[in-house]
Amino acid sequence: MKITVVGAGNVGSTCANCIAQKELAKELIIVDIKDGLAEGKGLDMWQAAPINYYNTKVKGVTNDYTATAGSEVVVITSGLPRKPGMSRDDLIATNAGIVKSVTENVIAHSPNAIIIIVSNPLDVMTYAAYLTAKKASNKIFGMAGVLDTARYRAFLAEELDVSPKDIQALLMGGHGDTMVPLPRYTTVSGIPVTDLIDEDRLNAIIERTKFGGGELVNLMGTSAWYAPGAAAAQMVEAIVRDQKRIFPVCAYLNGEYGMKDIYLGVPVKLGKNGIEEIIEVKLNESEMAMLKDSAESVKSIMKVLDDMNIID
Ligand code: LMR
Repeated sequence: MKITVVGAGNVGSTCANCIAQKELAKELIIVDIKDGLAEGKGLDMWQAAPINYYNTKVKGVTNDYTATAGSEVVVITSGLPRKPGMSRDDLIATNAGIVKSVTENVIAHSPNAIIIIVSNPLDVMTYAAYLTAKKASNKIFGMAGVLDTARYRAFLAEELDVSPKDIQALLMGGHGDTMVPLPRYTTVSGIPVTDLIDEDRLNAIIERTKFGGGELVNLMGTSAWYAPGAAAAQMVEAIVRDQKRIFPVCAYLNGEYGMKDIYLGVPVKLGKNGIEEIIEVKLNESEMAMLKDSAESVKSIMKVLDDMNIID
């Protein structure tokens, strides 16, 4: 198994480190455009192998996609992170061109790879990569729901003073302020969360989740990396180990939830074939209205991408 992570910045290197530690690949390639950065991070991770006991051979390269040839899974984290005061959507002008050219290079050397996009604005960057790659949509999708749900679960675990392992939750929609956490599909070891927490506290946690990325940008002056990197690696694990995990994933909709030709966060089954099923959970009227609102917000950024005229 050969895996590539494009981008040796905070998110890319954290993701690569998780992949190595989980021994998901025999060979792990990290690519970056900055001279020496990926080489250095790859070498550093390889030198951690005898300590952390993994066999994954990690190697970094500067913009040399021939080294990535034949990768079975590729994670694309390239692009600028946001700074305080910016929304993820503000990154489209810089990141769309970067994601397009990275996807072209990836496809040229690994035409059969399953591709996971992590770059922001996530839903539209995933769409841009799909248009560029021209491959089946079950093999190209985005990471956001695993991260957003993890934030929601972590906040709930803290509030209820229980293990984060016992919080099961679903969150749908775009990776932005309009994301839709779903309390009706949130349980603590099977117990409906609404039995354990009052409405005001739950609503406060939902609001904090929606702005979870921004909270970290304000604290650190740049975007988060530990949870985003771990989330992408968890998706890689589900694919590589054919785990059939059910995760919220930014997936291409072709009629599901009454929507077409859009990438949006929905629950899917992830296994060796990538997205093996899109699961259509029953949403009530207000949940559906929130999902549609989130889709509208993603569509407005798709329009910006379209107007940039950079993808055939
Ligand atoms: C996140 O949610 O942490 C990422 O999308 C990065 C960001 O800028 O919020």
